[in-house]
Formats: sequence, C-alpha cells, structure tokens
Amino acid sequence: MKDVTCIDLFCGAGGLTHGLQKEGIDVVAGVDVEESCRHPFEFNNAAKFIKEDVSKISGEQLNALHGKSAIRVLAGCAPCQPFSTYSQRYDVLSSPRWGLLYQFDRLVKETRPQIVTMENVPTVAKHAVFDDFANSLMDQGYHVYRSVVDCTKYGLPQTRRRMVLLASRLGPIEIVAPEPENRRTVRDAIGGLPPLFNGEASHADAMHAASKLSPLNVERIRASRPGGTWRDWPEHLVAACHRKETGRTYPGVYGRMEWDSPSPTLTTQYYGFGNGRFGHPDQERAISLREGAILQGFPTSYSFVPDGGPIHFKALGRMIGNAVPVTLGEVIGRSINQHLGAMYQERPDEKERAPRDGERKPLVA
Ligand SMILES: C[S@@+](CC[C@H](N)C(=O)[O-])C[C@H]1O[C@@H](n2cnc3c(N)ncnc32)[C@H](O)[C@@H]1O
Repeated sequence: MKDVTCIDLFCGAGGLTHGLQKEGIDVVAGVDVEESCRHPFEFNNAAKFIKEDVSKISGEQLNALHGKSAIRVLAGCAPCQPFSTYSQRYDVLSSPRWGLLYQFDRLVKETRPQIVTMENVPTVAKHAVFDDFANSLMDQGYHVYRSVVDCTKYGLPQTRRRMVLLASRLGPIEIVAPEPENRRTVRDAIGGLPPLFNGEASHADAMHAASKLSPLNVERIRASRPGGTWRDWPEHLVAACHRKETGRTYPGVYGRMEWDSPSPTLTTQYYGFGNGRFGHPDQERAISLREGAILQGFPTSYSFVPDGGPIHFKALGRMIGNAVPVTLGEVIGRSINQHLGAMYQERPDEKERAPRDGERKPLVA
C-alpha cells in the first residue's frame, strides 16, 4: 500500500514500529522521551527517532513529518504502569503519566489522521481516560474497534493479553483473525540458543546475558520444576515472607518456564529469577535479556545497544519488557492493510476517502 505514513508515539525500542514496517507500513518517525531508545529504534528500523515529550510535541510538527502522504496513521502505546493491575491498588490519578492518553487525543485532533491505533494493558479499559479517548474518536467521526487480544493466538510464544484499539475515519476497521494452529512455545523461540551459566554473557551476543544468582537462589532454581513455583521447594529454601499467610498471594514467583508452552507474560524485570516465573526451563538461571527479547517477538539480531556498549539489565529489561510485541505490531499492520484494501476495493472510484488539509486525493494501492 503506497502513500501511507505512520508516526509512532511513545515508540520505545521500536517493537510496534518493527512489526508495522514488517507489514510494509512506512513508519516515518517515533517519539519518545528516553534517549536510550534512539539506538534500537533507528538502527533496526527505517524511521527517525525524535526525543521529545509527547505532551510538548505539536500537530504541526507531526504533519511536517507525514509530508504529503494521503493516508496518515497515528500509532501509540502510552506507558502502561498507571493502568497495571498492581498500580490499581494505588491512586493512579495522581500519576502524571495517565494523562498522556489525553495528549494522544490532542494530537489526533490536531492532525486528523485517517487511522489511529493504540495498545495498552487490558486494565486500561477500567479507567475513564480510556473511555474518554474512544468517545472522543467517535465524536470526531471515527469508526472505533477495541478488543483484548490474546497474543498466543497470533504466534507470540508468550501469554500476553493486550487491549488494542483501532479507529478509522474511512469506515469500519477490525483486527485480522488469528491463523489456526499458530501456537508457538518457549522451545520454538529460544530452544536453539547457546547454554549459559547464571552471571554469564555469550561472547557472540552481549545481550545473551543471564543475571547473577545468589548461592541460595542457585539451590532454589535446582529445586524448581518447569511450570512450578516456590511451593515445590523443601521448607528450608522457602523465603520467610512466603511462609506467612500473606505470602500465599504470591504463588507466581520463582518458577521455571515450560519448554512446550508459551512463556508467562514478561515484565520489565523478567531477567530476575525471583521476579516472576522467569527461570530457564532446564538451565540454572533466569532467562537472558536476548531470550526475553525473542519471546517479545524481536528478531535474534535486533540491536538494543551500540556494539561494545554497556549492558544494563534494568534499563534493557524495561525497554524490552515494555515493548509492544513485534508480532502484535505485525497483526496491527495487517489489520490496517486489510482495512485499506477493503476500503479501496469497495469504493475504487471514490476519490474522497483520504481528504487532508482540505485537499482531496485518490488512494494509491
Ligand atoms: C509502553 S512503552 C512503549 C513501547 C513501544 N511502543 C515499543 O513497542 O517498543 C512506553 C514508552 O513511553 C515513553 N514515555 C513515557 N513518557 C513519555 C512522554 N511524556 N513523552 C514521550 N514518551 C514517553 C517511555 O520512555 C517508554 O519508552
């Protein structure tokens, strides 16, 4: 599909952009406040990185980036933390980040893209800001589709559920149907990577690095079985906090992944054995930074730091754990392409599907 350009707000390391570009969507730029995202975003994608606060960027700036394209897509995944299950226990309204969806809405109003797409955690739907965002799109004449997507159905080797919103001024839009028999497992994704000890990094790939385990955690991972939890351990290995009644609410930590299932949902701290069920299925370590990236759908060669650059587990875990899985980016890209194809086929002679800035331009397919 020619003459379509996209801007990715909150672009991070480029998970969404990479998936969209794999589907042929011309993402021209990504916007993020985090400078460390520049390298992975620009190195792996044919798009410009703009280090800027989305609340400070103007519609005029975005329009200049789109140039003269007939179809404009505004994509974005605002930070999820204010909407996560964990933060619901706290006063989410006090977080300045929840208002970023209103900034996304402002930019929709200022640029009037033909297509808008937004991704977030499913619990975003419990917050008024999400309804406000969807209602504002409908008030502006968009057809709005929203659905919680189970990423395993689209071939992501990770149980990740995400709210996806698609909106179009051209007509009804929806997400493409999953292909049957498309389930992928941890083995399919990372079964071929070289073995590592805890605390070790591969010579061939600095991102294939596993965090160091304490002697106690080495004993614990030895006692852990794939798919199990700390409840499987002998009493002397169980942490005091888990022995208490309140600890029973945390069964999902200190587990190993299972080879023949998708992985659990990765968090920003997936490289730590004690932070979730992130133990390697049969090696005595948590999964490596690279293994997490692959479970998020990134290609094995995706570069996150310049060659020889420092490997900071915390920063890279956040960048990768927060990413929109590349696989989901591809699904969103296919959905946009299918929609544009249908709109073009249904109304091939109609030249007013992509009005922009008062101009009327035919869509070139
Ligand atoms: C959920 S992550 C986005 C992931 C990204 N779309 C991807 O697929 O890899 C949210 C991003 O928003 C960025 N961010 C947070 N506040 C921001 C702001 N005010 N303006 C621009 N970016 C911001 C963070 O640095 C983070 O990279």
